Amino acid sequence: MERRTFIKTSGALAAGGAMLNPSRVFANKAAGTKKRIALVGTGIRGTGFWGKPVVDNYGDLIEFVGLCDINPGRVAYAKQFMGVNCNTYTDFDTMMKVTKPELLIVTTVDATHNEFIVKGLEYGADVLTEKPLTTDEVKCQQILDAQKKTGKNIKVGFNYRYGTLFTRLKEVLTEKRVGAITSVDFHWYLNTYHGADYFRRWHGLRNRSGSLLVHKATHHFDLLNWWIDSDPVEVNAYGKLEHYGKNNAFRGNNCRNCPYTDKCKFFFDITRDQQLMRLYVDNEKYDGYIRDNCLWRNEIDIFDKMAVQIKYANDVQVSYSLTTYSPYEGLSIAFNGMKGRIDSWQDLPWRNQEKVSQAERHALEMNQGVEPESSAYDEIIVSENFGTSELIKVPLVRSGHGGGDRRLQDQIFRNSDMPDPYKHAAGLRDGAMSILIGIAARKSIDDGRPVRIEELTDLRPHAVRNQ
Ligand SMILES: NC(=O)c1ccc[n+]([C@@H]2O[C@H](COP(=O)([O-])OP(=O)(O)OC[C@H]3O[C@@H](n4cnc5c(N)ncnc54)[C@H](O)[C@@H]3O)[C@@H](O)[C@H]2O)c1
Repeated sequence: MERRTFIKTSGALAAGGAMLNPSRVFANKAAGTKKRIALVGTGIRGTGFWGKPVVDNYGDLIEFVGLCDINPGRVAYAKQFMGVNCNTYTDFDTMMKVTKPELLIVTTVDATHNEFIVKGLEYGADVLTEKPLTTDEVKCQQILDAQKKTGKNIKVGFNYRYGTLFTRLKEVLTEKRVGAITSVDFHWYLNTYHGADYFRRWHGLRNRSGSLLVHKATHHFDLLNWWIDSDPVEVNAYGKLEHYGKNNAFRGNNCRNCPYTDKCKFFFDITRDQQLMRLYVDNEKYDGYIRDNCLWRNEIDIFDKMAVQIKYANDVQVSYSLTTYSPYEGLSIAFNGMKGRIDSWQDLPWRNQEKVSQAERHALEMNQGVEPESSAYDEIIVSENFGTSELIKVPLVRSGHGGGDRRLQDQIFRNSDMPDPYKHAAGLRDGAMSILIGIAARKSIDDGRPVRIEELTDLRPHAVRNQ
């Protein structure tokens, strides 16, 4: 059983055999030529995920022709860290005019993605953007219009889809083991390490991140759309800020010069991390971007607990929640079908008695290196009504978001023609549909009413996705 499961999962990821959707991947280059890439936003994601690892792993197929950031110190450090020879820019238009890239990678602050995606398409480049596609419906419509006008390709870096557990769930759902799915319960718990980190910097401001309903939950809503294979039609939500921000009795300037380090359980010593020091602290003088800001700042205006209900075009109903101050990081998900139920979870404490360091856990998830072999596994339980339950063991991969990061990059840079049996490759419509749930949820909380997806842009929900 265990072996069969493993072979099935890795086989689907590595070999596959079904149709490719060419509109959602970038064309391969002719042998002997390199794809010319420019990148805007040389922060931790730009340099540490789309930067150095891409140079190291795909240098035979791509070349960086330009790097851009509003912070001149950070973009200079990025060039050195990535080990590239290209020019650096603080003006985006100049970079695009001079370097004429075939592919633009957008890894700036979320609320600025639209500006670079639209301009990038107009300059004739395909665009690979980090999630979320953008942060509100007006910007989303601008992107949809620009793509229609230019006919260029947009891809959204939804790395979670490629993780082993999430892929295996898609596989089980595709097999229709529990009949038609009618509802889904999905709950995501961010811990006091990772969850808190969102409140230290720009993510804590709605006008920069769109709130965690957009910045973080875009991953989860995209997974739901992909698993359910339908588009959302209506969203109802509740949310509140009652732990971070103004809710604490004391607050300092930032952790490095705070008088409350002895009594603040969230004290974060950035000086112990050389990479963060070089990327952010050394360059504060240019733009005042403080990486170890106080998470009790009064200006924080996002929710720290969120509950969302989603109705899909195929009548599936979802109950989703996101919590940001949990003692452990994990998730639970259940798909209720007409003939049974599929349960899965990750890292919930009742699974075993292991002591997990939450800080080390997060570091491993972001790490792009090779993970040591282990016998650990995730679990999926498929239970049939009036029948039996089957335990499916999925080999546990933590590093690089469950192994998804590397598979995503292989599909983009190594071989766009690789089989994509579960349609992992995400395009513009996928990026839009996932943020529209978060935007609708935010609006629902603000207005105190259910919000229909078709109120937001000219996209109309389909009972079967992408048809
Ligand atoms: N898929 C994932 O798992 C994942 C993980 C982390 C981050 N991300 C996404 O990656 C993006 C970057 O996140 P990060 O953590 O690296 O943030 P960051 O703050 O480290 O980097 C953002 C960079 O953008 C630059 N920037 C901001 N506005 C700009 C502008 N107008 N012009 C040029 N540069 C500008 C900043 O100076 C900074 O260097 C975000 O959209 C985030 O949502 C995705």
